[in-house]
Amino acid sequence: MPELNNIALKIIGNGKGILAADESTGTMTKRLDKVNIKSTPENRLNFRHTLFTSNSIKNCIGGVILYDETIKQTFNSKTIPEIISETGAIPGIKVDTGAKVLSKSPKEKITEGLDGLRERLKEYYKLGARFTKWRGVYTITNEFPSKLAIHSNAHALARYAALAQEEGMVPIVEPEVLMDGNHNAVTCLKKTSEVIKKCFDELILHKIELKGVILKPNMILSGSDSDEKISSKEIAELTLKCLIDSVPSEVPGIAFLSGGQTEIEATKNLDSINKQNKSNFIMSYSYGRALQQNALKYWSINTNDINGTQKIFDHRANMCALAAQGKWTEKLEQI
Ligand code: 13P
Repeated sequence: MPELNNIALKIIGNGKGILAADESTGTMTKRLDKVNIKSTPENRLNFRHTLFTSNSIKNCIGGVILYDETIKQTFNSKTIPEIISETGAIPGIKVDTGAKVLSKSPKEKITEGLDGLRERLKEYYKLGARFTKWRGVYTITNEFPSKLAIHSNAHALARYAALAQEEGMVPIVEPEVLMDGNHNAVTCLKKTSEVIKKCFDELILHKIELKGVILKPNMILSGSDSDEKISSKEIAELTLKCLIDSVPSEVPGIAFLSGGQTEIEATKNLDSINKQNKSNFIMSYSYGRALQQNALKYWSINTNDINGTQKIFDHRANMCALAAQGKWTEKLEQI
């Protein structure tokens, strides 16, 4: 499967990363409500098209993850995957149908979407997608994530990854251990490592070609309600320890989610990871909020100012691309 490996390297190699613009309509509506914009298909498209046509897409973004609505939309009679491909970035698609209550452990979630997935993947391939995403989600408490949640989500991720590879697309495997809670970073390290190891056990059992996979994990952080304050350097040390111990060496790279970190935190922590990374793994980004937040805020007040919105997005994407190479400094944030 050299082709899948080539796609993965094109997406996250050379300091490039991923723009996660695959918010479901429900999530996007929440984001737009917060900035007082009506969540219509046109408004969702206009904001996203503004990002997809920014200068930084060419230099900083190797792949864009789309949602079902967006991959089927057109702008000035071009399809969105065509518009993205013209910049050199690769269109991707979120294919899970969301996290639902896990039977027998109802405080936890299991991600759904396997039924009919092969047929949907074939359709997305025809629409231009060359990579896919599936997110499993886990919470940390004393008792969670349970063995049941860890096992069932890993199984679903592996079955999804097998189908994506069968259809010629790179699967992004995203086991997100949420930041919510008052746990410390060492607990996050322990629980995230257990989750990731189980994912790879299942991926190997399902005969996944690991060279054609991108892992999308959380960084190792203290819980958002914890009093513990740890530095970027410590976050990087713990995150690297987790990944080096849990991820098979065949995997070409890792693209972190931002998971509620601010734009600067997500950039600074990624930069620290790359400054310390001695492994062969590419360490890049697949950010949603940490790439879009400020651009969305600006756009919501100035919906006609495409250039102004793009300038804000370009700055953030440039900072993330530098961080993906360990070349970011705080000074560069002054624009
Ligand atoms: P955030 O970077 O906003 O966490 O989103 C990434 C993502 O795609 C979550 O599935």
